[in-house]
Amino acid sequence: MKIKNIAVLTSGGDAPGMNSAIFGIFSACQDNAINLYGVYSGFDGLIDNKFKLITFDMLDGRINRGGSILKSARSKRFKKPSYIKQAINNLKANKIDALIIIGGDGSTRAAIELRDSGVKVISLPGTIDNDLNFTYTIGFDTATNNIVNAVDNIMDSLSTFGYGTVIKIMGRKCPDLVKSCAKALHTKYTITKREFDIAPLIKSLKKNHDEYHLPPVILVLEDCVDCNELAKILEEKCKFPFRAHILGYVQRGGSPSAFDRKYAFSAGEYAVDVLLQGKHGFAVGMVDDLLTSKSFEDIIKF
Ligand code: F6P
Repeated sequence: MKIKNIAVLTSGGDAPGMNSAIFGIFSACQDNAINLYGVYSGFDGLIDNKFKLITFDMLDGRINRGGSILKSARSKRFKKPSYIKQAINNLKANKIDALIIIGGDGSTRAAIELRDSGVKVISLPGTIDNDLNFTYTIGFDTATNNIVNAVDNIMDSLSTFGYGTVIKIMGRKCPDLVKSCAKALHTKYTITKREFDIAPLIKSLKKNHDEYHLPPVILVLEDCVDCNELAKILEEKCKFPFRAHILGYVQRGGSPSAFDRKYAFSAGEYAVDVLLQGKHGFAVGMVDDLLTSKSFEDIIKF
């Protein structure tokens, strides 16, 4: 397929590695004499015609930073057919042959709308939540490391006093970040559902504390329980102090890990490669340690 112009956007929660993915796409475009346009602020930028030709200057010094050089948004307007039409008209007006979307679950749903309207589109899975059906999504590894480092710091201090901690972890409906961090932090205490039985948790916490003097770490998937409330209840029932921590955006920011950089860069190159072979209308990501493509519908998990 003859491709002269590709556009790229980042959408939804930023994920460390998004800039590496943009750089991978940019490099492949350079190699094939293709113009790469960045669309600013996700799908809102498509609607508002915020296209800008990407040059190396825009990426220089920022490739290995977290966040997205193209900014992001959670577009409410893109759910309405009139705005989707406006976005498609802008793609046509800018003579864009294909669009690459880097984002998570919401971005994949938006990619389906575009594909069904005849746009040549490919998506790359960029989200710390790991809630798409690839082995990993771009950003998950970095977020895992961010959380583990933060909890290590917290526990240096709290374990000195023998306090326990309850930590709220991002992930939307997906328990993967909680589970991966629990393994790395060697804690068996995780809460990933709204309904859970508190009695066995209290029993185990008390036993570990009384017999082995282990200061417990309890990892909670966001919105399952109120972490401050839970810490209060545990302190009362277990008879030793608990502190709650809402880690927030410490989890999502920061420099991408080497793994996320390599993954994102290669996925970006791969996306351009498949477009050049005339293929589009699917997501590109990692299964085991190989890049592959899957339909948008197949990667939506929740
Ligand atoms: O999807 C990434 C994520 O960080 C989720 O883990 C979290 O639920 C959500 O985004 C937070 O969204 P926002 O930054 O819009 O508050």
